[in-house]
Amino acid sequence: MEIDYGPLAGLIGTWKGDKGLDVAPEPDGVEKTPYYEVIVFEAAGDVENYVVQRLAIVRYHQTVMRKSNGEVFHDQLGYWLWDPASKTVMQTLTIPRGVCVTAGGKATGTAPGPVVLEVRAALGDRDWPVAQSPFMRDHASTVAFEHKLTVDGDRLAYAETTTLEIYGNPRFAHTDANELVRS
Ligand code: HEM
Repeated sequence: MEIDYGPLAGLIGTWKGDKGLDVAPEPDGVEKTPYYEVIVFEAAGDVENYVVQRLAIVRYHQTVMRKSNGEVFHDQLGYWLWDPASKTVMQTLTIPRGVCVTAGGKATGTAPGPVVLEVRAALGDRDWPVAQSPFMRDHASTVAFEHKLTVDGDRLAYAETTTLEIYGNPRFAHTDANELVRS
């Protein structure tokens, strides 16, 4: 049976963008880094949970490079998941710092034209939590994550805010945004 990826269908493909801007914490303040990136989204079939829940899955790998030197400075692996029964969109992601996020939310619009995916998570949230290593909890804690992604045909744009408790700031807004084109 053909898998219905619902609002995730438009993600599938390889996307490139060079309009990225990262705002990240440094001990002495804020670092702003222009970046380019590649995100590969792949159709990954479906799964059945507890007999009754059936999720369509899109797997992704995001590789982000500094414009200044071409160095990879962010690598992210994850899944977008669609639950047609509850009309819930999920993004589960991991970054190589000892941090994982299970974010949930909704989709608006229908393909091919603008489809907006909006998910969020927060530390300690019963529904959509953040998990992190003890070191990160104690020194660079991810307290919240919000992500809005818009797919419109062969154009994709996203903006995300990762709220960090770090360097004495209880709510540092670590932000990332970019515009990509399907290649
Ligand atoms: C395009 C996406 C992202 C980019 C380019 C990026 C880049 C950065 C950079 C440059 C730093 C400063 C420290 C360093 O130079 O390594 C940083 C810190 C951090 N980022 Fe990200 N980040 C991204 C997304 C995320 C996401 C999605 C999360 C978690 C959900 C996250 C969690 C963190 C944490 C916890 C730190 C603090 C680590 C530390 O400096 O001690 N980041 N990030």
